[in-house]
Amino acid sequence: MKEISVFLENEKSTSELGLKLSERLAAGLLIFLKGDLGAGKTCLVRSILISLGYDGKVKSPSYSLFEQYYINDKTINHFDLYRFKSPEEWLSTGFNDYINVHDITIIEWPEMAKNVLCDPDIEIEIVYDKEVSRRAIIKAKSKKGEAVCKDLV
Ligand SMILES: Nc1ncnc2c1ncn2[C@@H]1O[C@H](COP(=O)(O)OP(=O)(O)O)[C@@H](O)[C@H]1O
Ligand SMILES: [Mg+2]
Repeated sequence: MKEISVFLENEKSTSELGLKLSERLAAGLLIFLKGDLGAGKTCLVRSILISLGYDGKVKSPSYSLFEQYYINDKTINHFDLYRFKSPEEWLSTGFNDYINVHDITIIEWPEMAKNVLCDPDIEIEIVYDKEVSRRAIIKAKSKKGEAVCKDLV
């Protein structure tokens, strides 16, 4: 499948993408979120969680590395690996056990666990754009990911 590119003019556009994704999330989905600091990765996750019905505070896991949410019948695992010192930390922390067939797992900075993380279903990169603030490049990497990304935007 070809990649999808979508302009995100402002925070509201990022939230709208989160809403669309939230409506399509399937059990066991693994999503990688790439992009520079401040690109809007956590903002996108926050919007997904709120769209699913979460009404608490969504903390960035930039210090804790990991936050977990139970929303209705779904479990969402949210990681931020920016502070990893080596990819092996993904294994030594036991984080890999959180990837399973039921939970939806979203990982910011997956590059920090390169070669130890399994392949995602979807990879989203948010890049800074000179003219339109941000652009999201969305790639389906599995059949399950393709089903989510088809007609997404
Ligand atoms: N499309 C957008 N255009 C401009 N600003 C945005 C956009 N999406 C999100 N933002 C803002 O950019 C910042 C992104 O922060 P955050 O989501 O924590 O970034 P990251 O997790 O990628 O480091 C927030 O202040 C948010 O309000
Ligand atoms: Mg973040």
